[in-house]
Amino acid sequence: MSLFSATGLVKSFHSLRATDNVDISVNANEVHALIGPNGAGKSTLVNLISGLLPVDAGLITLDGQDITRLKAHERVHAGLSRCFQVTNLFKEISVIDNLRLAIQAHEGNNFKVFGVRNHEAALNEKARALGAKVGIEGESVLNSMAGSLPHGAQRQLDIALALAANPKVLLLDEPMAGMGPDESARVVELIKGLRQHMAILLIEHDMEAVFQLADRISVLVYGKVITSGTVDQIRNDPKVQEVYLGSETVAHG
Ligand SMILES: Nc1ncnc2c1ncn2[C@@H]1O[C@H](COP(=O)(O)OP(=O)(O)O)[C@@H](O)[C@H]1O
Ligand SMILES: [Mg+2]
Repeated sequence: MSLFSATGLVKSFHSLRATDNVDISVNANEVHALIGPNGAGKSTLVNLISGLLPVDAGLITLDGQDITRLKAHERVHAGLSRCFQVTNLFKEISVIDNLRLAIQAHEGNNFKVFGVRNHEAALNEKARALGAKVGIEGESVLNSMAGSLPHGAQRQLDIALALAANPKVLLLDEPMAGMGPDESARVVELIKGLRQHMAILLIEHDMEAVFQLADRISVLVYGKVITSGTVDQIRNDPKVQEVYLGSETVAHG
């Protein structure tokens, strides 16, 4: 059984079926990429999975638990974290404070067993370790205002905030959006490291990144998964070539 699975997901907006009976699963240590042209229903699917939108029909399970009706924060608690297409950071406070807040949000009371001074030291240490996991380190970076970091570093910090919850499954919604080639390459390496510890569902329009990372790719068109397979299978699938004919990469939106 897959660590994460969604089966028979349906979501309509008035007469439009944005999600039309979608099945998608992710195994431990697997990167399953979801691609599809603009308007295919990628963001809707992410919102259904993360709990920001209620499903019309279908079942979502995480590690054997039915999470279909859980609220977004309850899913995070159950082990499903999401990074947003638009970053989720507090831009007006420092990087280290963003990290500290994320840890406190998930560990809250655990820290209270320490004395006040130990609490501070333990929290700082955890915050630094969390930043280091995504390559955010060094005093000057940690003490800068989050909003002043380059775009790529803000996305890395955003991933760190999602990791604070110790997810079993990480949902990445276009993590390379708006990045230059160097920044994208760094995030590709970061995701390769993360997959040692968790399952990853990657929604991404950067095909080069998807081909480097994915164990499996599913292609969404008009709300339906039209095909799933390995990188080679998807590259050579005539149905996929037809969908992308004339467009260089998958559009994002
Ligand atoms: N809240 C909404 N109300 C009405 N239609 C929506 C809503 N969200 C998305 N849609 C429609 O659902 C379809 C899929 O959109 P979306 O999930 O954003 O696709 P993608 O992320 O793949 O570009 C589009 O036709 C879009 O216009
Ligand atoms: Mg979208």
